[in-house]
Amino acid sequence: MAYRHFEFIEKHAWLLGGLTALMVSLGGLAEITPLFIQAHRVAPPAGVRPYDALRLAGRDVYVREGCYLCHSQMIRALRFETERYGPYSTASESVYDRPFQWGSKRTGPDLARIGGKYSDDWHRLHLMDPRQVVAQSNMPGYPWLALALVDGKDLQARMRVLRTLGDPYSDADIRSAAKAVAGKTELDALIAYLQGLGLAGGTEPAGVAGTAAPAAGGPS
Ligand code: HEC
Repeated sequence: MAYRHFEFIEKHAWLLGGLTALMVSLGGLAEITPLFIQAHRVAPPAGVRPYDALRLAGRDVYVREGCYLCHSQMIRALRFETERYGPYSTASESVYDRPFQWGSKRTGPDLARIGGKYSDDWHRLHLMDPRQVVAQSNMPGYPWLALALVDGKDLQARMRVLRTLGDPYSDADIRSAAKAVAGKTELDALIAYLQGLGLAGGTEPAGVAGTAAPAAGGPS
């Protein structure tokens, strides 16, 4: 009996196509729906706070300059990755990243836990002209960042927008933002951003090299 049903379906291509599409859609929905529900449940882990003003400005520079075209910020849960870069990345570390900078293109190394690896001066030299510190580097220099000042008013507007999206910035945070970045160059901001990357994350697995005490501001 059942066999005759199958035969009927198999001999009618449109019916077979329609039912196949229906089953694939149901399967897809079963896989995707829980992810949508989960996304709203990801909570910031202890120590991960929204970016402070200077780091937020630095993050914007990072995105504008397209650093993500060569650098990922996502350490995979694979032994050789965690040995090299530190604890693997978790979704909750990126709750304040809009858009997140995970990526997969690695012309250069992953930067998810670059914070604290080098001094500010090293970053300054490296970003001005990478060949000064890494002779064989093919990373471009970004000397113009040292000439442009961070626009405090613009930054405050961005913080207000982020607040409407749920980032817990207080009125005082926003009010003091312009002062916090006054006189700072885009290079200063970018370095502050890089130095905060990964410091608040790395809660799993516990005790692996690279785990540092929670720092003020800045998920990885
Ligand atoms: C064309 C590809 C490319 C682009 C674009 C690029 N980088 Fe790099 N980056 C590299 C390569 C290759 C290295 C490794 C050699 C070196 O250290 O210079 C590197 C290294 C680094 C390092 C040191 C990483 C470590 O663990 O030693 C930092 C920090 C860094 N880049 C930041 C940035 C930032 C910030 C930007 C954007 C302003 C950027 N990069 C844009 C290719 C790139």
